[in-house]
Amino acid sequence: MTLDLEAIRSQFPALSETDDGVARLYFDNPAGTQVPKRVADAMSQCLLRANANLGGHFRTSDLAGAIVADAQEAMADFLNAPSPDEIIFGQNMTSLTFHVSRSIGRHLDTGDEIILSRMDHDANVEPWVLLARDHGLTVRWLSFDTATFEFDLRQLEDLVNERTRLICVCAASNLTGTVNDVKSICRMAREAGVWTYIDAVQSAPHMVNDVQDFGCDFLVCSPYKFFGPHQGTLWGRREVLETLEPYKVRPAPEAIPWCFAPGTASHEGMAGTAAAVDYFAWVGETMAGGEGDRRQKVRAGMGAIAEYEQELARHLVQGLRALPGITVQGITAAEAMSRRGPTVAFTHEQHAPDDIARALAEKNIFAWSGHNYAVEVAKSLGILESGGAVRVGPVHYNTLAEIDRLLEVLDPVLR
Ligand SMILES: Cc1ncc(COP(=O)(O)O)c(C=O)c1O
Repeated sequence: MTLDLEAIRSQFPALSETDDGVARLYFDNPAGTQVPKRVADAMSQCLLRANANLGGHFRTSDLAGAIVADAQEAMADFLNAPSPDEIIFGQNMTSLTFHVSRSIGRHLDTGDEIILSRMDHDANVEPWVLLARDHGLTVRWLSFDTATFEFDLRQLEDLVNERTRLICVCAASNLTGTVNDVKSICRMAREAGVWTYIDAVQSAPHMVNDVQDFGCDFLVCSPYKFFGPHQGTLWGRREVLETLEPYKVRPAPEAIPWCFAPGTASHEGMAGTAAAVDYFAWVGETMAGGEGDRRQKVRAGMGAIAEYEQELARHLVQGLRALPGITVQGITAAEAMSRRGPTVAFTHEQHAPDDIARALAEKNIFAWSGHNYAVEVAKSLGILESGGAVRVGPVHYNTLAEIDRLLEVLDPVLR
């Protein structure tokens, strides 16, 4: 299973852009990926040929309806959801989480407990902290070991009690790159009758995300992080969605999932999201022996991508560690590399993260610096006040040669 990098890169027009003759190196992917041409085409076709609201008696409305149905099916395939009717689209993960948290809050009583993690992006923290404030809930914190960058799930066992109602945790960290054992977390939650809200924004571009295998109750992700347009999606287990009271305007549909959709959706975004899922299926079919339906092809594609990205992660981590004064703020131990993704954050003993990111940008290498909204992570690591970290996030369209170029540019910057 080897990815054909040339064929892959040819799908993404942005990858061949240059500025004053200098190639762009996109390592800013954890903040948002580039899109294959098919995504932009699907979006423009939607806008040019099917631009109408849903439920009308005319052609464009029918076409828009078909686009929406296809997008729901695509996301159900992407996440191995039992039904496309469990997929809710919204502006982004953050707004969906704020929105559905109101409905979840109706189920919680004063004194109930929720468990949040110190490894999460603030979008899976602050909506729940505010909910706890409004409903008189107690927040319990699952911390991670700052030496191993992983949770110790025995701590989770200690945190769960008869008042626990909800566990909110990420599948992968957007700063350290750690990939969590979501399946075990969800199993522990289920055994205690606790709902799980999984932030899969950073795992979605890198690995198979299977809601049935995870055994979670909610899962959120953002297509713009996995080669699609700016949009968010929420999967909710049907039995759980059925128990929630939707916050909706009166004329909006009563049926699940539409009752949870906050207002008119971006149909062009949905068209692009479906095209992004089709892109993964294309990778699976053409490069990873994927056969059968879209679900199977997507799974094969994600498997091949995950395998290749392990190689990128190893190369990047090893290369960074060989540079003077660098601390990788994430898993580096060879035996634990399979529990991390290719997103790598680092700090330097002298140079501020922002200065390093600026020096890289001067060479047309794109990387983010700061806490990257992972406020609790940066606090836990003691790097919040010193400017966070530099975050380098390759994805499957990046190459080992690009990583070498990054390391070559970094070396003199750090000396
Ligand atoms: C792990 C994680 N969760 C949530 C978010 C927020 O996603 P959105 O921009 O779709 O609200 C991000 C964005 O960077 C993220 O990395």
